[in-house]
Amino acid sequence: MDREFKFTDEDFAWLRKLALERVGISLAESKMDMIYNRLARRIRRLGLGDFASYVMLLKRGDEEELEQFTNAVTTNLTRFFREPHHFTFLRNEFSRVGPEAEAKSPRVLRVWSAGCSSGEEAYSIAMTLHDVPALRSTQIHVVASDIDSAALARAEAGAYPIQALEGIDYAMQKRWFLRGRGQNDGLVKVKSDLSDCLSFVQHNLVGAWPDEIAAFNVVFCRNVMIYFDKTHQQRLIERIAECLVPPGLLFIGHSESLYGISSRFELLGQTLYRKIA
Ligand SMILES: C[S@@+](CC[C@H](N)C(=O)[O-])C[C@H]1O[C@@H](n2cnc3c(N)ncnc32)[C@H](O)[C@@H]1O
Repeated sequence: MDREFKFTDEDFAWLRKLALERVGISLAESKMDMIYNRLARRIRRLGLGDFASYVMLLKRGDEEELEQFTNAVTTNLTRFFREPHHFTFLRNEFSRVGPEAEAKSPRVLRVWSAGCSSGEEAYSIAMTLHDVPALRSTQIHVVASDIDSAALARAEAGAYPIQALEGIDYAMQKRWFLRGRGQNDGLVKVKSDLSDCLSFVQHNLVGAWPDEIAAFNVVFCRNVMIYFDKTHQQRLIERIAECLVPPGLLFIGHSESLYGISSRFELLGQTLYRKIA
């Protein structure tokens, strides 16, 4: 492949190590082209001549560039009501097995969307829980976190192209979204009634966990650990178990499993677990 910037195996090996240590992301050898494409933009913008100079910059500990590197190695694919069976479960069966089945009316329900990307997952959770009759007198609080500062800024802004709402029931669209006009034509924005029950935290799942990452009734950590190696997956699930209040629920992504990762959960349904220890 003819490349604009020289990119050696050594450069790639160092960047892979950094991604693993800093973000927990395990990049396969086959991802060399993907990493080239994602970082070439930065190298061009910084006016550098090759990947070796970029590696030098990161080795010097340039915080701004380390953040840009982190944002470049993450994959942010998401959408509203992705993996819809999880939301069907929340709407129809949550009250049977969730925390309010134990305590008849918990005053606050704390949910964590860990690795929320641009926020669609966190808003989908909040929209769904608002429609659960058993939660009518419960305050719903969704903490939405991601390591990627750019994705998190989009989550917090809560503005999306109107096409992002395709497939969402029209009554729900009207209830929770405002349509942009003028220069915002073609965009929708989450109404404050919904966004008021969310808070946003930039948080690295493989770094230190701040105080607000605690005491959750429900955790969504979907399509995040798939990028981690087994050691980071085990550590992550252990820490999630610690921050879940029994009988806490954990939702993971469609190609993820806790098999061989943790024995602290029982399987309740498709990619849905309940904490047992
Ligand atoms: C593919 S998206 C999944 C979004 C959403 N959970 C879903 O299933 O639609 C994965 C997200 O995990 C985030 N992520 C990856 N490594 C992370 C880490 N170490 N700490 C926090 N977030 C991380 C990425 O930035 C990305 O936004």
